[in-house]
Amino acid sequence: AAIEKGGYDHFMLKEIFEQPNTIFDCLRGRLDATGGTITMSGIQKYADQLTTANRIIMIACGTSWHAGLVAEYIFEEVTRIPVEVEYASEFRYRNPIINKGDVIIAISQSGETADTLVAIETAKEKGAIILGVVNVVGSSIARASHGGAYTHAGPEIGVASTKAFTAQLAVLTMIALKIGYIKGTLTEKRYMHLLNELNDVPEKVATALMQKDKIREIASKYKNASDSLYLGRGYNFPVALEGALKLKEISYIHAEGYPAAEMKHGPIALVDEKLPVFFVATKDSFHEKVLSNMQEIKARKGKVIAVVSEGDDAASALADDTITVPYADELIAPMINVIPMQLLAYYIGVSKGYDVDKPRNLAKSVTVE
Ligand code: G6P
Repeated sequence: AAIEKGGYDHFMLKEIFEQPNTIFDCLRGRLDATGGTITMSGIQKYADQLTTANRIIMIACGTSWHAGLVAEYIFEEVTRIPVEVEYASEFRYRNPIINKGDVIIAISQSGETADTLVAIETAKEKGAIILGVVNVVGSSIARASHGGAYTHAGPEIGVASTKAFTAQLAVLTMIALKIGYIKGTLTEKRYMHLLNELNDVPEKVATALMQKDKIREIASKYKNASDSLYLGRGYNFPVALEGALKLKEISYIHAEGYPAAEMKHGPIALVDEKLPVFFVATKDSFHEKVLSNMQEIKARKGKVIAVVSEGDDAASALADDTITVPYADELIAPMINVIPMQLLAYYIGVSKGYDVDKPRNLAKSVTVE
């Protein structure tokens, strides 16, 4: 088992550290940043349906649902196609409306999640085109889809998903950029810029991973919290949700993810000197707004722990603890910003003595409805 873990204490840690490679593998052979091309044969076949889609519906569960949420922000920005992100279990049971011109993107690491599988079968019966973004080759969801793209992240053993998430984001971003470019909703200049930003992700993820000792220190400082809040805006809002999910899955600390502004409509009532509030506060178009949200927490004596862009002294000054990550375009940043979220949850779970690879009550894939 020690060999399988490649010298790491847990599969989860190994998989977190594999991400520069898994993202690279996912982009390899598809993304040519210099030539300005994205090649994805299983998407290419449905490029017409995608570019003319009236609506795209992302269907998933758990962490894969969070990938869908990031993709909603990206797709709407670069393709101008309305996107809905649905929990598979909610979608399938409510007699969903599927119109001509709707394209479904099913996102699943295992390709075996029962609700996601039935949801796409329901949509298929209603005439929708189904594209799968799946990790496990030949899995049920991969087979039930008309087309799609594999995430090529390799087997994921840790129950809490990590490397599958960043690979899903890499694939979904490539699909969005390709469609946006074909449609012309993305300018040539912005397209080329984003291809280059995508190309740089493996290296930036490797840099983010170098913060591990700092993150471990922060983890030991906050491991006895009973509740926590994760906040972010825009592209970083789903990253906050994912951070909260990771923490509750493996440390059993109650964690709530929220849009940073919406926090005023409820969660702010929980803030006191004991509450850690984790901000995903890297530089983006909402940055000033996020800084004022951080101030609001400080004013109520909450503890602010922030993921900030390298060199952002203004953000660091507002936080009790900071974790720096390399700056990336806001569309691309979630793949980098989620790394500290994963490590934080990992180190808190481990410091509490829990079995982070097999957290209580959770299954790697939920094959029952
Ligand atoms: C379970 C796993 C999660 C995963 C979710 C969806 O809850 O514990 O890590 O995100 O299922 O699984 P899928 O294989 O469909 O991505």
